Amino acid sequence: MSSRPRISTRIAAISESATLAVDSKAKAMKAAGRPVIGFGAGEPDFQTPGYIVDAAVEAAREPRFHKYTPAGGLPELKKAIAAKTARDSGYQVDAAQVLVTNGGKQAVYEAFATLLDPGDEVLVVAPYWTTYPEAIKLAGGVQVDVVTDETSGYLASVEQLEAARTERTKVLLFVSPSNPTGAVYSREQTEAIGRWAAEHGLWVVTDEIYEHLVYGGAEFTSIATAVPELGDRVVVLNGVAKTYAMTGWRVGWLIGPSDVVKAATNLQSHATSNVSNVAQAAALAAVSGDLSAVAEMRTAFDRRRQAMVRLLNEIPGVFCPEPKGAFYAYPSVKELLGKELRGRRPQTSGELAELILEEAEVAVVPGEAFGTPGYFRLSYALGDDDLAEGVSRLNKLLSEAR
Ligand SMILES: Cc1ncc(COP(=O)(O)O)c(C=O)c1O
Repeated sequence: MSSRPRISTRIAAISESATLAVDSKAKAMKAAGRPVIGFGAGEPDFQTPGYIVDAAVEAAREPRFHKYTPAGGLPELKKAIAAKTARDSGYQVDAAQVLVTNGGKQAVYEAFATLLDPGDEVLVVAPYWTTYPEAIKLAGGVQVDVVTDETSGYLASVEQLEAARTERTKVLLFVSPSNPTGAVYSREQTEAIGRWAAEHGLWVVTDEIYEHLVYGGAEFTSIATAVPELGDRVVVLNGVAKTYAMTGWRVGWLIGPSDVVKAATNLQSHATSNVSNVAQAAALAAVSGDLSAVAEMRTAFDRRRQAMVRLLNEIPGVFCPEPKGAFYAYPSVKELLGKELRGRRPQTSGELAELILEEAEVAVVPGEAFGTPGYFRLSYALGDDDLAEGVSRLNKLLSEAR
């Protein structure tokens, strides 16, 4: 028998998405009749607006959409994405600079695959979203963490970034609003970081998928617009998932200089070809329409955000800075680790999350998933009553820690 491994080393090294793992365990418990409250989900609990669904239904009846279309996206959608980008972030791009992808995730994967050679370093602010490390690794890149914590509201400074920069640094990954922390960089901070990147000739890959979900006076700033000095070394990632409650439709995009977009389109043409035409037609209706759906979600998320932060901070041993964007809270639970709780002594946030799921029937994602053990990520994209009940269960259980 061959001694070669059945699974390639490269693919075997990919970890299961921890956020999806928690979500599916919670869903399985729920299906078995247990009243689990899940804070794991990374998707809005709203329905895709009707006019978007209608556009998809109409598209499904159109014979031209039953055939292959250009691998890089429907020309009308690319044009609409360019117009939407100018409208929402003031960034002026040509339709030829847009590549339509299978969700934001494929845009992340293709951006790193297109930019990185083996050994190229990428500066990643931790806590970070779980998909980035895998996409960087698969491209042969080397992730260099710039670790932040609750004391700065999870914001990285230019000094921290500079301390992590080496001769091999090629890319800075800039994510604001952030998943998992909800941190939002101010215009001044964004400009300072962008100018520093430009000064050192770095590329900036910026994930703007939560651009419309900012609260309490915080403002979204596109680094691509705020720092024109970055020139043609910016790649913007975005998608319809979070803005229009369209996670299942799988439409995202990448915007970049034409050589990058051309190379990434070549890659996509061999991997997946065009995104489903029906989903692209839905995305076209979404990005060409107004932003009233996201305004409605934002109001609900803001109310839940405030409730969640207040309730979390009432729990002894939990400290939660105020998230300014996206739909996640990222409290520290470090003070609870090593304490006795229901006959056990969880040493890590992963062990504590497991105990909470079993004892309180509440699902949270431990900080290990985001590169910073000692924290939890809680999504507040769930109903107000469930949110209050879930955090109250957490409070009841965690107050027993000694
Ligand atoms: C920061 C960030 N970027 C990109 C995505 C990708 O979203 P999708 O692939 O559903 O479009 C997500 C989804 O959770 C995200 O949180």
